[in-house]
Amino acid sequence: MADQDFNDRMLSLGLARVSEAAALASAGWIGRGDEKAADQAAVNAMREQLNRLDIAGTVVIGEGERDEAPMLYIGEEVGTGNGPQVDIALDPLEGTTLTAKDMPNALTVIAMGGRGSMLHAPDVYMEKLAIGPGFRPGTVTMAMRPAERVSALAAAKGCSTHDITVCVLERPRHEEMIAELRSTDCAVRLITDGDVAGIIHTAEPDRTGIDMYMGSGGAPEGVLAAAALKCMGGQMFGKLLFRNDDERERAKKAGVTNFDRVYTRDDLVSGDVIFAATGVTDGSVVDGIKREPGYLTTETILMRSKTGSVRRMIYRNPTKHS
Ligand code: FBP
Repeated sequence: MADQDFNDRMLSLGLARVSEAAALASAGWIGRGDEKAADQAAVNAMREQLNRLDIAGTVVIGEGERDEAPMLYIGEEVGTGNGPQVDIALDPLEGTTLTAKDMPNALTVIAMGGRGSMLHAPDVYMEKLAIGPGFRPGTVTMAMRPAERVSALAAAKGCSTHDITVCVLERPRHEEMIAELRSTDCAVRLITDGDVAGIIHTAEPDRTGIDMYMGSGGAPEGVLAAAALKCMGGQMFGKLLFRNDDERERAKKAGVTNFDRVYTRDDLVSGDVIFAATGVTDGSVVDGIKREPGYLTTETILMRSKTGSVRRMIYRNPTKHS
């Protein structure tokens, strides 16, 4: 399908509904210590809502390969079939542990674009680097060491390294990188999960306090984050990481030919996309679900890359309607 046939304007409100439905379904599982149940509730609701949309959709980033995930698996066809052919990347609950433990920044996430608009990333790790909008190309690169990136970004911003905040997933594999970052006197915001939100933070540094994201996390989440930055502005780079031959096989199956390639934001997401994310727990991108007697309220960020428009939408959903 040609990109211009992807009627993103009409579809975007439908996409927000899908994201909201997944968040509302997971609401009852916030802080209940059951990651699987929270995820399943979000998956079921997201799939049900997606199947109401007038699209001929194919899941390209989903819950896993067909033999691993019964619902929203890679290749699953979704929608009524009466409408444009679109590719869909989704994570019905990004931050299952955050939800189960009622910790910040759990989101439901979905992106949609024309056929071939998003990289079919295999389920392997990806080395990621992101900064917000307004910097010239090459300000920071994957080839630079972490400390060099901090100095380069500080120089571009006209501030000292002390004034830069870098967001990193707290993992043993990042200990060396964190130590190097600390040697520059920058601040490091450690997150326990949720690097899609981590990367989105860089697009709004004044709101979130985060200037740069770096470190490895899931490759599928990398494509979702790139979709968000394509709408909001900002630079992102990703390189697939392979721990064994099985992972290389997965990548080959997904169509990856160059295992050393550094993907830019626009390689990860090459066509126009729409993106929606709804807060499950409170975060700096959007508020989490609020409860009051008879209502659940959600906040959704809904964006289009074609126009760079960013909407934040509040939805008050009656739990009973008379
Ligand atoms: P889930 O919500 O699927 O648990 O993923 C959370 C997450 O933190 C992602 O945001 C991130 O990309 C990935 O897990 C990191 O993987 P790992 O926990 O193996 O370091």
